[in-house]
Amino acid sequence: MLKGFTLWFTGLSGSGKSTLAHAVAEELARAGRLVDLLDGDVVRQQLSKGLSFSKEDRDTNIRRIGFVAALVTRHGGVAITAAISPYRALRDENRKLIGNFVEVYCKCPLAKCEERDVKGLYKKARQAVADGKPMHFTGVDDPYEEPLQPEIVVETDQASVEAGAAKILKRLHELGYLDEKVDVSSGLNAHHEHLPAELIAKAEVAVRKTGRAHSQALMDELHVGFVTASRLLDILADKGVVVVSENVKRKT
Ligand SMILES: Nc1ncnc2c1ncn2[C@@H]1O[C@H](COP(=O)(O)OP(=O)(O)O)[C@@H](O)[C@H]1O
Ligand SMILES: [Mg+2]
Repeated sequence: MLKGFTLWFTGLSGSGKSTLAHAVAEELARAGRLVDLLDGDVVRQQLSKGLSFSKEDRDTNIRRIGFVAALVTRHGGVAITAAISPYRALRDENRKLIGNFVEVYCKCPLAKCEERDVKGLYKKARQAVADGKPMHFTGVDDPYEEPLQPEIVVETDQASVEAGAAKILKRLHELGYLDEKVDVSSGLNAHHEHLPAELIAKAEVAVRKTGRAHSQALMDELHVGFVTASRLLDILADKGVVVVSENVKRKT
């Protein structure tokens, strides 16, 4: 049986946990691994519905996620969690419980996360604080404890999503969690030949229309996953339609 493991993302809201978690999940699934993604927002709608953002409820949320991740891991699957998980002690508790635990710190300055403000929550939190109403929003009026020795640090304000995902896959390989079916040397952009010409044509139109040669733009426009979007960009680069930097574009 393949060795199960948990890939535990942690970081501020907007630091890139969900984005990277989806990218890595898609790549591992493509390599035939059974992957469960426990994304923070989804968990709070289901497993942890009704819990607040008090310290006690946050801890309960993280313990529940850890419990499910342990089950998946024990059965040879890959559990990928993407919750802020602000408290070191709780992450360490899950590390002990799960064993095969790979902590990924999405490191991004608060100011940058706030500038991204993907869900408009920083703005809301700042307003609440200005109005004298606590919101318990991590980084604004609630703490975030950085990991001391995470297996992986991804500085999401420094490198692209593609480079971050590739770094994670490479490290998983080094740690002995992946077999050679996950081709980390050729990165995320291998296997062009499987994409239909029609999709490539659509991608070309989208890039020309939006003027954005960015995987996220293609994901939004074409409703495709991250790996497909990356491969499409790579194909368009080969055709001379877009410029893709060398750290993104690996072996073609
Ligand atoms: N290198 C990067 N890694 C991850 N996300 C990035 C990166 N550069 C820009 N982003 C953008 O930052 C945002 C991160 O949002 P999200 O993944 O939802 O964060 P979180 O799940 O941590 O709250 C996305 O809009 C993503 O496209
Ligand atoms: Mg998220």
